[in-house]
Amino acid sequence: MAVLEIKKFGCPTLKEKSLDVESVDDDTRSLIDRMFETMYAAEGIGLAAPQVGVSRRVVVLDVRPSDPSRVHLALVNPRIVEATGEIVGEEGCLSIPAVAGDVKRASDIRVEFLDRDGFPVTVSASGIEARALQHEIDHLDGVLVIERFSAIRRNLLRSQLRKIRKEGQRQAIGPIEVTEPVAESPS
Ligand code: NI
Repeated sequence: MAVLEIKKFGCPTLKEKSLDVESVDDDTRSLIDRMFETMYAAEGIGLAAPQVGVSRRVVVLDVRPSDPSRVHLALVNPRIVEATGEIVGEEGCLSIPAVAGDVKRASDIRVEFLDRDGFPVTVSASGIEARALQHEIDHLDGVLVIERFSAIRRNLLRSQLRKIRKEGQRQAIGPIEVTEPVAESPS
């Protein structure tokens, strides 16, 4: 199975504001499928298209371990239409490996989006799902989680971030297929 390369902090795509998807077509569905594969391979709970080098407003999410009620959420052009409450919790990001920090988010949100068939859907989310959705929608606006860390936290992470940024700056623009190594058969 070929997954997509995850862009690291420093890669320019992560700083761009993504464009709306104009029509949810087979290309969009194919992107969604690849994003799910990539997210599961990386053991993440959410992934935004800019993280695989595509500047389009597409997010995939699966917070199943913590929320068995919802699986496989694919969101096209998601928009937060209501946000209430405030809660601080720790977040990391697949584009900034081994880095985590506290971020204040709305505790409850309502999000409108198009599903993988292009139908409009509204969901209410709380807990880890609300947090992950806000994190991924930030990605669509070119906002990385470290920008929401405290200045003290960012300062503590400075040398780590510098290393990741160098790696990200070396990455090519656009989506890149990565073929996972085939496991050697036992002899
Ligand atoms: Ni992220």
